[in-house]
Amino acid sequence: MKFFVDSADLEQISELNDIGLVDGVTTNPSIIAKSGRDFKEVIAEICKLVEGPVSAEVTATEAGKMVDEGRELRKIAGNVCVKLPLTMDGLKACSILSREGTPTNVTLCFSPNQALLAAKCGATFISPFIGRLDDITLDGLQLIEDIRLIYDNYGFETEILAASIRSVNHVKECALVGADVMTAPPGVIKNLANHPLTDKGLAAFLKDWEKTGQTIL
Ligand code: E4P
Repeated sequence: MKFFVDSADLEQISELNDIGLVDGVTTNPSIIAKSGRDFKEVIAEICKLVEGPVSAEVTATEAGKMVDEGRELRKIAGNVCVKLPLTMDGLKACSILSREGTPTNVTLCFSPNQALLAAKCGATFISPFIGRLDDITLDGLQLIEDIRLIYDNYGFETEILAASIRSVNHVKECALVGADVMTAPPGVIKNLANHPLTDKGLAAFLKDWEKTGQTIL
């Protein structure tokens, strides 16, 4: 499973990247607004930092303008992935950009049929938002399972990018049902390493090691 960081925070992305946990980055207009940074500038910096795809989202709502914005965003760096909303215009832009060889991430997916459309339009990634479905008491994980089955039924190559991940349990569940990628805020990714028995066990090992009076170096 690939790990993308859902953030525009250079420091946090860099910290996880140094550990070897960053296969790519996702942003959206809300994340960019929260960063307080210039959109193109921050995307350029993230693209330099990480090797994998960095999703940058268009803000136009009409297909032609989305394509123009996508082409503009692609000028920033070779690893920019153009993020498009799951609307008919977004799908049309996805088809055009995909045919040009531009990597695309179709976002705001909330149903299996929407995911089917994105795959048919050649999307590189489909982003089902599981947390936002859970928020309204629907089953986000079921959506990932349904898309997995549909894509496997027909051999679609579009990668399932589980998004709107809010907890470590979401990560485990997405891995169990075969999401290709998950994108999560840095805090959730860091929490994946935490276990009270690991902390307890390590404290006991170190205490016993101290008694030996030995050092490794
Ligand atoms: C993914 O690409 C989105 O940016 C993100 O996962 C949305 O998450 P949220 O529902 O927590 O805002």
